[in-house]
Amino acid sequence: MYTQAMDTQGPESEDKTLRSVEEFQLQQRFDATIDDGGFIEAKDWMPENYRKTLVRQISQHAHSEIVGMLPEGNWITRAPTLKRKAILLAKVQDEGGHGLYLYAAAETLGTSRDQLLAALHSGKAKYSSIFNYPTLTWADVGTIGWLVDGAAIMNQVPICRCSYAPYARAMIRICREESFHQRQGFDSLLVMMQNGTEAQKAMVQDAVNRWWWPCLMMFGPPDDQSPNSAQGMRWGIKRVSNDDLRQKFVDATVEQAKVLGVTLPDPDLKWNEERGHWDFGAIDWDEFWRVVNGNGPCNRERLAARVKAWEEGAWVREAALAHAAKQAEREPQAA
Ligand SMILES: [Fe+2]
Ligand SMILES: [Fe+2]
Repeated sequence: MYTQAMDTQGPESEDKTLRSVEEFQLQQRFDATIDDGGFIEAKDWMPENYRKTLVRQISQHAHSEIVGMLPEGNWITRAPTLKRKAILLAKVQDEGGHGLYLYAAAETLGTSRDQLLAALHSGKAKYSSIFNYPTLTWADVGTIGWLVDGAAIMNQVPICRCSYAPYARAMIRICREESFHQRQGFDSLLVMMQNGTEAQKAMVQDAVNRWWWPCLMMFGPPDDQSPNSAQGMRWGIKRVSNDDLRQKFVDATVEQAKVLGVTLPDPDLKWNEERGHWDFGAIDWDEFWRVVNGNGPCNRERLAARVKAWEEGAWVREAALAHAAKQAEREPQAA
């Protein structure tokens, strides 16, 4: 999944206190690479704020992937058919894999995975707020695939061209898997809308009603309230603005909703001939900030589940370390 509001916090101003001529030249070379649309590798020199911004964004993204496993993981034992269960298992495993690539990408910037996870578990680090909403029915699982993974793809395709190469490379594979996630969600809803009972159709509509607005919030605050976006754009970390991505998502989704036969819960949704886009109603940003700041419907539950998994996995980490130590001991003898 899932980037959202990655630019809502933290200092991102350009570091103006260069310490030496050498550093000045390194900075110039860095700027020239960025201006040429080039890529920065892990061992290249980079400004401290660029590094910090990336660690924050990539780790928030990694946290979102693994917290994102929880709402859907709830439904694995209750999937209605063997086929749906196999698909859901594969999807939830994919999200775990996305977390793994992204933690590895963040580690190339010099922050350990233990540090990153400690920040998540202490509540210091953020993850996408969308996962603080509950999955009440089976239709929520399809809706997450269609809308949440759909919004994630809109957000993430531009990151495949992010100036930090390890992040960009991770995103290419992630985006391919996200598109499968979106398709399976749409397919699952389509089956219910076309062949389902009236109760099942109502269940789909109810899930769409609950997820629509939080999905629009996934793109982060409006551009004029997103002061760090400009720096992210300058650095080639962010390629498309929050509002532009949101509009792209709305335009694509309205057409898909027609195929599904569901209504999007926004009376202001209207085609604007002049703009060539769909107009949509006002987003409740108070709700967004409430959830970002820890007071959404499931924030506490999600964090508690992650901490519990970490604590109960301690023996696995210890066993893996003991095994590695034993291997290292044996190796000189083998050689
Ligand atoms: Fe996904
Ligand atoms: Fe993902």
